[in-house]
Amino acid sequence: MPLISLRSVSKRYDVGGNTVAALDDVDLSVARGQRIAIVGSSGSGKSTLLNVIGCLDTPTSGEYVLNGRDMSAQSGRRLARIRNAEIGFVFQSFHLLPRVTALGNVMQPLVYGGVSTQERRRLALAALTRVGLHDRATHLPPQLSGGQRQRVAIARALVTRPSVVLADEPTGNLDSSATRQVMDLLDALHREGQTILIVTHETDIATHCERTVELADGRVVRDERA
Ligand SMILES: Nc1ncnc2c1ncn2[C@@H]1O[C@H](COP(=O)(O)OP(=O)(O)O)[C@@H](O)[C@H]1O
Ligand SMILES: [Mg+2]
Repeated sequence: MPLISLRSVSKRYDVGGNTVAALDDVDLSVARGQRIAIVGSSGSGKSTLLNVIGCLDTPTSGEYVLNGRDMSAQSGRRLARIRNAEIGFVFQSFHLLPRVTALGNVMQPLVYGGVSTQERRRLALAALTRVGLHDRATHLPPQLSGGQRQRVAIARALVTRPSVVLADEPTGNLDSSATRQVMDLLDALHREGQTILIVTHETDIATHCERTVELADGRVVRDERA
């Protein structure tokens, strides 16, 4: 059974009387442990696809099954709970709380899991160690470099041990050396068996991945395995 299965998924927006299909009849099946690059020009639907898979958004039509659960049948609070347990999200602009320490940011997803503060701290410190930033635990995001911020965000994505890590242009705001660090980290996670979907513009990142899915106008126009 695939970890992720989309069948004929569409997402339509009504904008000033016109309907825009951000996703148009998308079929996609992702096995556990795969690392996939999602590519395509700006506006092709990459973020919408990731948001649907990450349960930040719901499709207008079609079927989405995540880890055996039919997500189209889930409503608000349940959807949020499943998202918290199953999904680790990494964004281009990090989305860290600026006045909260690195450790506090990484602890945040565990607040909803009924985990004691002491255990949250232990798990968050382990995740920060995993990304090589245990010595920055008490730093605030503005005191960290871009690459370090993104590694904190990756630690936050990992701390719940999610089924899948979704990264939307994770190196889009980073210089080449920080990009290298983040890609090496995602590489290592992939070797450990983590399922990862990466939206990217950069061809050298895409060629790194074993599978590339290209979108154009909300449709899958290429699905290639290296
Ligand atoms: N909330 C929204 N309302 C209206 N149109 C949207 C919305 N979100 C995305 N779109 C449209 O859907 C298409 C796909 O957007 P997006 O998924 O952000 O593309 P990408 O990430 O590939 O740049 C674009 O045409 C965009 O303008
Ligand atoms: Mg986008």
